[in-house]
Amino acid sequence: MRDRLQALADAARQEISGVSEPSQVEALRIRYLGKKGELSAVLGGMGKLPPDERRALGEIANTVKAELEQLLADATKRAEEAALEAQLKGPKLDVTLPGRAVLPGGRHPVSRTLEDIVRTFARLGFEVAVGPEIELDYFNFEALNLPKDHPARDMQDTFYVDEPSLGHAKKADSPSLLRTHTSPVQVRHMLSRKPPIRAVMPGRVYRRDSDITHTPMFHQVEGLLVDKDVSFAELKGTLDAFVKAFFGSETRTRFRPSFFPFTEPSAEVDVTCASCGGKGCRVCKQTGWLEVLGSGMVHPNVFTAAGYDPKEVTGYAFGMGVERLAMLRYGIDDLRMMFENDARFLAQF
Ligand code: DAH
Repeated sequence: MRDRLQALADAARQEISGVSEPSQVEALRIRYLGKKGELSAVLGGMGKLPPDERRALGEIANTVKAELEQLLADATKRAEEAALEAQLKGPKLDVTLPGRAVLPGGRHPVSRTLEDIVRTFARLGFEVAVGPEIELDYFNFEALNLPKDHPARDMQDTFYVDEPSLGHAKKADSPSLLRTHTSPVQVRHMLSRKPPIRAVMPGRVYRRDSDITHTPMFHQVEGLLVDKDVSFAELKGTLDAFVKAFFGSETRTRFRPSFFPFTEPSAEVDVTCASCGGKGCRVCKQTGWLEVLGSGMVHPNVFTAAGYDPKEVTGYAFGMGVERLAMLRYGIDDLRMMFENDARFLAQF
């Protein structure tokens, strides 16, 4: 039994000296000193020995046990130090490096412009209305006096969608599309209430267009005023007031005859170029003027589609592109900047 104890001690010493990880040390502790370990196994037969021998063997066993415990404790320490050293040798963390700056957030120029437009009209007594971006062909075109096959539909390249016409049971036979302008909200708004009406309708619109000056999605603000005996002079006065509030009081407006199916007469509105004050420059292509909106007197057919009697009411409407107004106001010359979300660009607003 003495020999077996000695052999056990030798084997344990050798193994413990060879380990390098805390988990291995623990495994050896269990193997040699655990309740069902090798030391217990050797000592299990001690009961049958005469008392003298038992005492002597017990002493040796205690010495071996104490020695192994010490060796295991040392091995644990060694393993932990080795682990720490490996960590220090790994990738270094240089705590003297300057921190990485967190850029402050800001409102997007398109959001700012859209809010400015809406706020300006709110001061003139206009409320805000919204409509769906997935729209019916009916509201986007037909109700706006653009019958099927009307050539003016070509002005707006349309994304049609398979989406079933949600929540418009009445016109369920009409195809769905991504609205190409905010004008359909005029019709929805009129259907949902009685005149007088004075509302602006902001939102996203979509067209199959993509180049330096066109993106497949952009924003518009629509305007609609309906009452009795509304005149074209009122339209001019309102838009002139808006332009002066938005671009500055020295800005002048010019109404150019134009065509839109949903208004008659129709006009495009130009403002004096802010870059050159109207003298002519690159921004205004030497004309001194910039086109900023479409407008006109609401067409009788649109009133009829909305359930209003065109003999009873008159009104005006207008629509403007938010990105375009933002670019003119902030002097941005590439539309795509608006959608790249480069933090260096956005931080300037
Ligand atoms: N819907 C037109 C467009 O997207 C803009 C427009 C023109 C809106 C004249 C109007 C309007 O309400 O009267 O190009």
